[in-house]
Amino acid sequence: MIDQRLLPGEEKYLMLRSCDEVAEAIKDMAVRGAPAIGVSAAMGLALGAQQSVGMSAADLEYDFDYLCEMMSKTRPTAVNLFWAIERMREAFKRAKNRTQDVEEIKRTLVNESLQILQDDLDANRSIGRFGAELIPDGATVLTHCNAGALATAGDYGTALGVIRGARDAGKRVAVIADETRPFLQGLRLTAWELAKDDIPVTVITDNMAGHVMKGGKVDAVVVGADRIAANGDAANKIGTYMVAVLAKRHRIPFYVAAPISTLDLSIPSGDHIPIEERDTREVTHVRDHQLGPDGVDVHNPAFDVTPNELITAIITDKGVAWPPYTDSLLCLMGMDDSWSGTTTEYDLKIDTQVEKFLELKHELTFFLITAAVGSIGYTLSFSIGKLSDIANHPGRIASLLAATLFGLAAVVFALFSLYEEINSYRLHLKYRYLRKTWEQVGPKDQKIWSQANRLSKVCEKISFVCLVLSVVLQATLFLLFLL
Ligand code: MRU
Repeated sequence: MIDQRLLPGEEKYLMLRSCDEVAEAIKDMAVRGAPAIGVSAAMGLALGAQQSVGMSAADLEYDFDYLCEMMSKTRPTAVNLFWAIERMREAFKRAKNRTQDVEEIKRTLVNESLQILQDDLDANRSIGRFGAELIPDGATVLTHCNAGALATAGDYGTALGVIRGARDAGKRVAVIADETRPFLQGLRLTAWELAKDDIPVTVITDNMAGHVMKGGKVDAVVVGADRIAANGDAANKIGTYMVAVLAKRHRIPFYVAAPISTLDLSIPSGDHIPIEERDTREVTHVRDHQLGPDGVDVHNPAFDVTPNELITAIITDKGVAWPPYTDSLLCLMGMDDSWSGTTTEYDLKIDTQVEKFLELKHELTFFLITAAVGSIGYTLSFSIGKLSDIANHPGRIASLLAATLFGLAAVVFALFSLYEEINSYRLHLKYRYLRKTWEQVGPKDQKIWSQANRLSKVCEKISFVCLVLSVVLQATLFLLFLL
């Protein structure tokens, strides 16, 4: 792999010969960027398993578990690392259930790591396609850190994938790259990558971002992510949060681009994301050159968390998620076959809700119908006995008719309300199965949905009022007969 620590001065490729060496390369940032870390870890594990001298599947599993443990301690924030380790563990389990042949299990692990590499290449292309639609022709996009080809499996990247996607869609696009202190990924890597690709790039120091935004020079911000929580809070390179606040202040759209493998829906918010603390030397030194005084206290968190309310949209390989992210991310995650089959937790939750709701509606309607029909019957049977009496009292005839009509109206409106409610839920279900977010539903269906909801509520109210009136009139009639 290319040694990113030496770029752009030197293009040197490292030959890593063991899982330990791969882990060391990740820890020391020879390879970096969440998806690239995930892919490298998977390949490191496949390499480590290859070198195991275990004679049985159980021996191999023992070695493999040790390697997974060791690999998981390299960098704590990028969830792609843990995602890739989990995928490799799953592949191991599947292979072991199928065969006890050690060589075949090893082959399965190599294939799985190659598949992870290919999946990441495909994911970046998809992110590029989805993201391109959000970038206007002639736009200048500001980015932070390096979320490009170097940070992923290959040629496109995530945040830079969106820029490359826009370019490949025929749009003119220029980039402003934050230099990204302290490791200078923006200056060293993003600028290098984009210049090689002939995409116009201007580097600024991190503290210039506010000034250029205020000057109207930025049309959109696109950054990558290391971990995205269920509510859309996104961890990325330190300084990203600052850029997001500035973007909000200047009403500039702020997009996060990341593959599904960067989602961590097991944590509800960014508060649960572990933030890596790195060597203070990265702050006090540039390479081997010391800038800071000896012995001074230094804090070096490698990442920060951007709260979801500052994020305009999250561009993934399965589509664009819009707020509220708790729903839209689950929806996109459900589209990922490798996640948990076809039925997601989201499906189950919604199914139960819909079921409960319809049950309740049925009960309510049944109650209304019975109450209304019962009261009409009661009024009729009561009055038939007094028919001769009633004929001499026009007021009583009018009350009887009104009570009956209101009763009937209560039934009709209750049925209408149920019908509209079912219509709105049918639409909801349709889009859920098509895995579309509310924004993707389209204005026509959004209108039908809102109308159905509104109509159902109005009908419900009218039905209730009619029922009350019918009951009140019947009570009055009853009193009149008693007198
Ligand atoms: O510490 P790094 O260089 O690994 O941090 C990288 C980032 O923060 C990237 O923006 C992120 O991993 C996304 S890369 C597609």
